[in-house]
Amino acid sequence: MKIAVIGTGYVGLVSGVCFSDFGHEVVCVDKDSRKIEMLEKGKVPIYEPGLDRLMERNVETGRLSFTIDLNAAIDGSEAVFIAVGTPTRRGDGHADLTYVMAAAEEIAKAAKDYVVIVTKSTVPVGTNRKVAEVVRAANPDLDFDVASNPEFLREGAAIDDFMKPDRVVVGVETDRAAAVMASIYRPLYLREFPIITTDLESAEMTKYAANAFLATKITFINEIAALCEKVGADVKQVARGMGLDNRIGNKFLHAGPGYGGSCFPKDTKALARTAQEYASPIQLVETVIKVNEEVKRRMVDKLLDLCDGSFNGKCVAVLGVTFKPNTDDMRDAPALTIVPALVGGGSTVRVCDPQGRREGEALLPSVSWEDDPYAAADGADLVVILTEWNEFRALDLSALAKRMRTPRLGDLRNVYTAEDAQKAGFQAYVSIGRADLIPG
Ligand code: UDX
Repeated sequence: MKIAVIGTGYVGLVSGVCFSDFGHEVVCVDKDSRKIEMLEKGKVPIYEPGLDRLMERNVETGRLSFTIDLNAAIDGSEAVFIAVGTPTRRGDGHADLTYVMAAAEEIAKAAKDYVVIVTKSTVPVGTNRKVAEVVRAANPDLDFDVASNPEFLREGAAIDDFMKPDRVVVGVETDRAAAVMASIYRPLYLREFPIITTDLESAEMTKYAANAFLATKITFINEIAALCEKVGADVKQVARGMGLDNRIGNKFLHAGPGYGGSCFPKDTKALARTAQEYASPIQLVETVIKVNEEVKRRMVDKLLDLCDGSFNGKCVAVLGVTFKPNTDDMRDAPALTIVPALVGGGSTVRVCDPQGRREGEALLPSVSWEDDPYAAADGADLVVILTEWNEFRALDLSALAKRMRTPRLGDLRNVYTAEDAQKAGFQAYVSIGRADLIPG
């Protein structure tokens, strides 16, 4: 089957590459000719483990290609996936659908035969019907269906999530569209991964509900962590005790410096906004959004306590600035709140992150960059672990402490314990939801 994918951002590229690996003929389209040139040379514009090799393999077989020519891509395609950006619109917090609708119109004008127009971008409930209206207006004679096929890919694990999904959700209106979608996902169906077929609105809602639920779960454990600190409990033990209850589950119960990334912040805001517009506000999600901001600010207070109440004149090494490990993405990363607070308070900040520098240089001015965590800690008064990259999980803490002027550790991902820190010679240590080690 021939498939076109519009947009070679994170979702579009991963989907296009994986669909070609299923055996389909896939053409990925983007308006950005530099991006297409890069892809044609075999270079992947994003950091995603394993994507380059999978892309190379499928380009070699001739199943995967890249173009700026939308007409050629759509010619003969039975399905066209819209995977363009839906950023949060300034002012009202809504998802900005300009790019989705522009793509729908272009597809309508380019298509000649029956085609299923599938939205992969995360879009508010009701968008697929609007896409259908735009297509009908642009090309009244076109025989087409729309489908909603939200993605549930985690950055850093996207290929596995695509190839071995917990489920695939497909929203359709006709049997014909359902049949096309079923043949696209046939390799997964054969391996008995659940494929859920729903109406359009339910598919759109599933994505938002799932992400808002996960953001809520993280925020819940973050608030429990704050209380654990006050009552002398250990949030790691609490999370384990909770998570072994199958109804709760042990995933997404890691307390930390607040969720970030390209999905949770944007999707929770868009869901809250839609709910308000339908006069059915989801107060729980509105609170989660607010609390997550407070969690990030609470991290600054924690570090301030660790530094005797002032950042002024301190030298701080920050290990990890991306919103989570195995990505170069810094969107809504807690580092964007915490690092400016350190700099604003008068600290000199050195950052070490295996992939964050490319985006981070523009977003975090006035910091310097080090490739080596030990070099970053040289003469420092505080080391902060902000992202749990594997490189920072197995540090030689004694060696780190020896290089510092004042050995203090802010472990905002609970990678170590107060005992580890004390043994290694740290004079002060804070983590999340557990006993801290602050002298005096
Ligand atoms: C998420 C969803 O998991 C995915 O299904 C969706 O389609 C896109 O959004 P992603 O943003 O890549 O994926 O990362 P994820 O691993 O879900 O983490 C999101 C944020 O939550 C990160 O900032 C992470 O550090 C934080 N997090 C996650 C926690 O603080 N604690 C946890 O227990 C889990």
